[in-house]
Amino acid sequence: ATLSAAHRGGALLNRLADITGAREWNPVPADLRALLADLETLAAPALPAGVTLSIRNTIPQDALLLDTGMLQDSLLNLILNARDACGLTGRIMLDVTPVQNTWAEFTVRDTGPGFSEAALHHALEPFFTTKGGEGTGLGLAMVYDMVKLAGGRVWIDNTDSGGEVRLRLPLRPAPMPLAPGLVLLIEDSPDLRAGIREMLRAQGHAVIEAASVDEALALLAQLPDITLILSDITLEGDATGLDLLDRLPKGHPPCLLMTSLPVEHPCHRAALERVPVLTKPFTAHGLYAFVQSGGTQR
Ligand SMILES: Nc1ncnc2c1ncn2[C@@H]1O[C@H](COP(=O)(O)OP(=O)(O)OP(=O)(O)O)[C@@H](O)[C@H]1O
Ligand SMILES: [Mg+2]
Repeated sequence: ATLSAAHRGGALLNRLADITGAREWNPVPADLRALLADLETLAAPALPAGVTLSIRNTIPQDALLLDTGMLQDSLLNLILNARDACGLTGRIMLDVTPVQNTWAEFTVRDTGPGFSEAALHHALEPFFTTKGGEGTGLGLAMVYDMVKLAGGRVWIDNTDSGGEVRLRLPLRPAPMPLAPGLVLLIEDSPDLRAGIREMLRAQGHAVIEAASVDEALALLAQLPDITLILSDITLEGDATGLDLLDRLPKGHPPCLLMTSLPVEHPCHRAALERVPVLTKPFTAHGLYAFVQSGGTQR
């Protein structure tokens, strides 16, 4: 009992940190269908045999700008609340629908007794719980926080059959994900080049490398299959990534720059006026998001 209390205490602290910590809504292009499929997998083991979960999605776009971690946490919280409400038997329904092509609406309904009168008024407040020692009362507070950060809204209500929670998040279609292709990577530091090459490979791309503008232009002339150019600003020799932009042939593939120069540096600023620029150092995820949004960012 002590151990489980300690576990609950630890979980409580984590959730408090989620709410009070400077969490941000960081949207990246995300596959909504995959997110919902993952959610179903995550939730299934937590549901009693007599409780079913059905998910229906009618949003036409495949790729949306979402913070998948935060959205998944929130939906999982709603599903677990619905499970608690259902007891041993019941149904949980998650509907995802577009509203006026402006909002993505996530509605979780259950066949439990519904929100009590007090819960209808206070359930979104931190520490409001009707579950005694079993609940922290932070689940819905965290959901409320997430939705606020995302610029959306939450409603809680009762239907004829049970409780209902509705989240509206801004519906922001993401640009079509970039298909894996052949990336021309131009970077003068061999170590950095190797690291970035591996990140790109792990994301499905083939990579061809150069250390200078001259080398890059020679490869570009020989290889018509290059789909994307990713270049450092400072390179081997006198020519920079900015010179590369000037010397690219007509009809060249999209070109993105990266640099460790501070944003105030004249070269960094000049670059930002022309193409998307990724600041080094970056993580594999940062590179992925940058390449995926390639050309549309800024
Ligand atoms: N689907 C639901 N049906 C009926 N009441 C609900 C439902 N979801 C939430 N509530 C009510 O809102 C209260 C607050 O929910 P919240 O998720 O914030 O905390 P909790 O579920 O009590 O605790 P924890 O999330 O830590 O398990 C619940 O205690 C319950 O009274
Ligand atoms: Mg809860």
